[in-house]
Amino acid sequence: MQTALVILAAGMGSRMKSKRPKVLHEVGGLSLIGHALHSGKALKPARAIVVTGHGADAVEKEVARLAPDTICVRQSEQLGTGHAVDQAREALADFDGQVVILYGDTPFISEDTLRALSTAPADITVLGFEAADPARYGRLLTEGDALLEIVEAKDATPDQLAITLCNSGVMAARRDVMFDMIAKLDTNNASGEYYLTDVPGLARAAGLSAGVVTCPEAETLGINSRADLAFAEGVFQTAARSRAMAGGATLQDPASTYFSFDTVIGQDVVVGPHVVFGPGVKVEDGADIRAFSHLEATHVGAGAQVGPYARLRPGAELGAGARIGNFVEIKNATIAQGAKVNHLSYVGDAHVGEAANIGAGTITCNYDGVMKHRTEIGAGAFVGSNTLLVAPVKMGAESMTASGTVVTKDIPDGAMAIGRADTVNKPGFARKLMQILRAKKAKRGS
Ligand code: UD1
Ligand code: CA
Repeated sequence: MQTALVILAAGMGSRMKSKRPKVLHEVGGLSLIGHALHSGKALKPARAIVVTGHGADAVEKEVARLAPDTICVRQSEQLGTGHAVDQAREALADFDGQVVILYGDTPFISEDTLRALSTAPADITVLGFEAADPARYGRLLTEGDALLEIVEAKDATPDQLAITLCNSGVMAARRDVMFDMIAKLDTNNASGEYYLTDVPGLARAAGLSAGVVTCPEAETLGINSRADLAFAEGVFQTAARSRAMAGGATLQDPASTYFSFDTVIGQDVVVGPHVVFGPGVKVEDGADIRAFSHLEATHVGAGAQVGPYARLRPGAELGAGARIGNFVEIKNATIAQGAKVNHLSYVGDAHVGEAANIGAGTITCNYDGVMKHRTEIGAGAFVGSNTLLVAPVKMGAESMTASGTVVTKDIPDGAMAIGRADTVNKPGFARKLMQILRAKKAKRGS
């Protein structure tokens, strides 16, 4: 049976105290709605629908960026989770298959769990979990394998509140079952809302079967506050660190290594303390990422060495064995195999050829205040310390610059560019000057 995904993301999440819609807050460098779309992909949905409301424009933009085939429908007034799902009725009118509901604020549901849910035998199946602290979660009332009904905490009796099997919000049913039951919802409850959670009880009353599939509580973590967000980030980082180590990377201080949702780390990579991997980073086998380095949208070739204290910005592409040292910033630039940028340099919008050596304090002057320009540095070139390369400019293969040169025109292959003021030596002048200064200080008595 084919599957359609409906992700609820219209709520305002008032406990976040944020101008940003709740589902656009990030965990591991990806928005919560991005995580929900990503987990949903495990079901290979034939159709995906996101219900938007608060901050709809921004949420729809993010959905279009991440999953352009997704249909967004708006819930203009937030009248409850059941009402939210009802907004997808039209978009699914011709859909023959099963509907799986996910919440946009619940980012960690695993592939295995979703598959177990979507292949469960009952007419309607709810994903439940044993809560350490059931607090405000809806409670699942069961009898053997059957789900009798879901009771929201606000509407529960003291006996029902003692139940620890809780509702994650994830639910699966055939399209006709789901929407027939939603049509029967009312607002006779403590919140005066159309509760999606009334659907299983209504299904049973109509002679259909309802069941529960369970998963670990860590997967159903819902984010309603900044504290929840920080907790979720911690859960994500712990899992990402474990994955990197299981894959054969050494993390010298796992607790201070920060990963993104899409970080790829090869085997025998060594990561020093306090390294941050922003989105879009791939590190090939055997690379060495030293302490306090910050990488984003970067590809690090096999056996390359980065840092300590390096900043690799989007578009940095390091060839095998390349070396990027301390206080070096690379942006939108290729550093070819074996090339070295070891100290205090900025290389942006550039290509640095194989085995070239960039001296300390080199800067590609890539921005004229309006436009960006490229710098090309040939293979085996040697750039003297404190060279300014005023782009657009090219250095030929095996060319050189003298220290302190400001390069404003292309340098042919094998040539050397020198562009700096000559020094003049004044014999005895240094000692004389010191005597004068010391005498002045003594006279002042300080
Ligand atoms: C809901 C469940 C509860 C469950 C908990 C799990 C209901 C009535 N309650 O409670 O049983 O234990 O999730 O986290 O379903 N939303 C809309 N439109 C609305 C209302 C909500 O799109 O009109 C979206 C929210 O943006 C959010 C999701 O639905 O992504 C859940 O809504 P929320 O208000 O957070 O529900 P809970 O009170 O957490
Ligand atoms: Ca919630």
